[in-house]
Amino acid sequence: MRQLIVRRSGPLRGTVSVPGDKSISHRALLLSALAEGDTAVSGWLAAEDCQATLRCIRALGAEVEQPGATDLLVHGVGLRGLCEPADVLNCGGSGTTMRLLAGILAGQPFLSVLTGTAALRRRPMARVAEPLRQMGAKVLGRQGGRLPPLAVQGGALHGFEYSLPVASAQVKSALLLAGLFAEGETTIHEPGPARDHTERMLRLFGLDVRVDGATICLVGGQSLRTPRGARALGQITVPADYSSAAFPLIAATLVPGSKVQVSGVCVNPTRTGLSDLLAGMGACLTTLSRADRPAADDGAGEPVADLLAQACALTATTVGGDLVVRAIDEFPIFTVAATQALGTTTVRDATELRVKETDRIGAVAQELAKMGARIDEQPDGMLIHGPARLHGAVVDCHHDHRLAMALAVAGLVADGDTVVQDAGFIDDSFPGFVETMQALGADITWA
Ligand code: S3P
Repeated sequence: MRQLIVRRSGPLRGTVSVPGDKSISHRALLLSALAEGDTAVSGWLAAEDCQATLRCIRALGAEVEQPGATDLLVHGVGLRGLCEPADVLNCGGSGTTMRLLAGILAGQPFLSVLTGTAALRRRPMARVAEPLRQMGAKVLGRQGGRLPPLAVQGGALHGFEYSLPVASAQVKSALLLAGLFAEGETTIHEPGPARDHTERMLRLFGLDVRVDGATICLVGGQSLRTPRGARALGQITVPADYSSAAFPLIAATLVPGSKVQVSGVCVNPTRTGLSDLLAGMGACLTTLSRADRPAADDGAGEPVADLLAQACALTATTVGGDLVVRAIDEFPIFTVAATQALGTTTVRDATELRVKETDRIGAVAQELAKMGARIDEQPDGMLIHGPARLHGAVVDCHHDHRLAMALAVAGLVADGDTVVQDAGFIDDSFPGFVETMQALGADITWA
């Protein structure tokens, strides 16, 4: 696979955009496929993970045209219109694809088998399989239903009341999607504020989703109507991904003299924990509101803003509780920032990081240590001692797109050459990352 070469860089400057939000792109495609009528999706993330969802939904009988790289025209089949796939559904490396689809498939009167890459086949699935069984589906998997491949024999589901043992938007979404097909009411209690894109998008499709604090309630059997606004054709515009914006923004924070703006970013508060963390560390990160913010009926029902970061000295902080949930995907890049902060940063309550694309506590600590970072691994987090003078090294991304990008940003403030091995995984979420960073003045190239 391809390697990235990164060198210490001068000030990063400019305004860039980053690709569409990954979570919202999966949901826009899945809900449009289940809707009555056609939906045009623009700003869709044409990255590996979302392509996996596109492949699977086509295999389930939904017709999807792709008039442009980031534009889809989805011909909805209606709530009961999916058909049995002729072959195993390949979810690639995408946990969101597998877990959200498991929820939809639990409600279908046919058999589906879901598999994926070796990395995905190591990720825990009991968290979706077990509650879906409680709703009436048959879900089998390796190791007693805990690991993929998963075989889902769907059928008549009944709504239920369920308290999520971990704050997970993928599990919450799987159960809400299953709840669409269930008889009666599905009620979910969340232990923390996991991203709420599914709830927002279900509303955009006209569904009555009731949210009361940490409880979400949905009555099954409601049809999804494509979000038309004033137009004949339904339209969803996917905003830019905050989790991708985090890389140029933290790079700007760390590289002296930098000033970088990222346009049109989804600033849903369930996603922006990193901004709160950085504010607590003294960073200069500003959220600029937008006059052209899309109206709820033609956007994705999400708040959008431009984000501006300027280079700044950071001080250490402590992270735990709900803030971990609201920044769950940002820990690889946050750890890089913490290596440059004055003092010891403590991350706790973050055991979930161990079951992401890779073990994001072990792998981040191991790879940044090769560059001179001082990080003590803890069972549920880490202690990051800063500031550390980083030096270039040959580092590995453990098949993890966000670790690859975080290591590349670390290379921008390191002495000598940093080589990020297997960096092609970046395409799982941020195609164009290298070109975006180059446009800002970063010394980063494919080998
Ligand atoms: C996602 C939810 C989160 C997140 C993942 C995307 C989603 O996973 O880490 O990148 O789109 O629902 P968990 O549900 O496992 O926390």
